[in-house]
Amino acid sequence: MRGILYYFSGTGNTKWVADRFKENFELYNIDVDLIDIQYIEDREVKKCDFIIIGSPVHVEFPPKVVRDFLNKLDSLKKSKRAIIYCTQAAESSSACCFMAKCLKKKGYIISAQISVKMPNNYYFSIGKKPTKNEIENLLIKADKKTKNTIENFIKNKTIRENTFFVKFQLDKITYCVFKNMIPKLSKNIYATKECNKCGLCLRNCPQGNITFEGGRAIFHSKCILCLRCIHICPINAIRYKNKKIDQTQKNIIKVLNLNK
Ligand SMILES: Cc1cc2nc3c(=O)[nH]c(=O)nc-3n(C[C@H](O)[C@H](O)[C@H](O)COP(=O)(O)O)c2cc1C
Repeated sequence: MRGILYYFSGTGNTKWVADRFKENFELYNIDVDLIDIQYIEDREVKKCDFIIIGSPVHVEFPPKVVRDFLNKLDSLKKSKRAIIYCTQAAESSSACCFMAKCLKKKGYIISAQISVKMPNNYYFSIGKKPTKNEIENLLIKADKKTKNTIENFIKNKTIRENTFFVKFQLDKITYCVFKNMIPKLSKNIYATKECNKCGLCLRNCPQGNITFEGGRAIFHSKCILCLRCIHICPINAIRYKNKKIDQTQKNIIKVLNLNK
């Protein structure tokens, strides 16, 4: 059996869970290829027995890059099993339900839809900053959750963490408001004079949204607020609303294999 895991990860959490899926499936001699959806052109699912899709949650729903991927995915002639997981700071969100609806329309059978609680990468705007201890505990729990999901998948048992209809509808409205605010919110991101133009943010922005002009880093209008630039800057020179951000994702973000 062979699976493909498609993911998007701004600051490493979703990729970290993707790595756990790969590692834990290997214990059953099942290969899982990991594919970052930001680098693929055609949305045809390659030959495999099942797929896994992982996404971060940006105000209860998956970010645009994931929604675009789901929309462009080909409909299946023969049904295939799928595992969906979302990573977020809260226990759950509406994102998994949203993704499950999209995949069902394309002919997938949802074997698992799970929310994996991970460190909050946007704590400086929503919620609270995770401590080192909390981060460690979250990672242990996330690993257990992937193991449990795989066990159930192997036994052909379905796991469906659903969102109540009313909550889903309300979250949809909140998300629409947030979506329209992204251009304004992203204007809160800028580089200070300390920026030494190493180019790491420029090379790794999933939207290709950063350039250097007149000796300054310029953030254009395609930002999706994934926050990668803030969390990867080697000298922590990128600010959000004038705030210096404690780069709490430092260890986790290493899993992204950045363009050095
Ligand atoms: C713009 C934005 C919005 C977010 N909204 C939520 C949210 O509504 N609920 C939540 O629990 N976490 C929220 N988070 C936290 C992320 O979902 C969480 O840290 C996620 O695991 C990040 O995954 P990544 O590192 O793979 O990008 C948000 C993060 C960002 C950047």
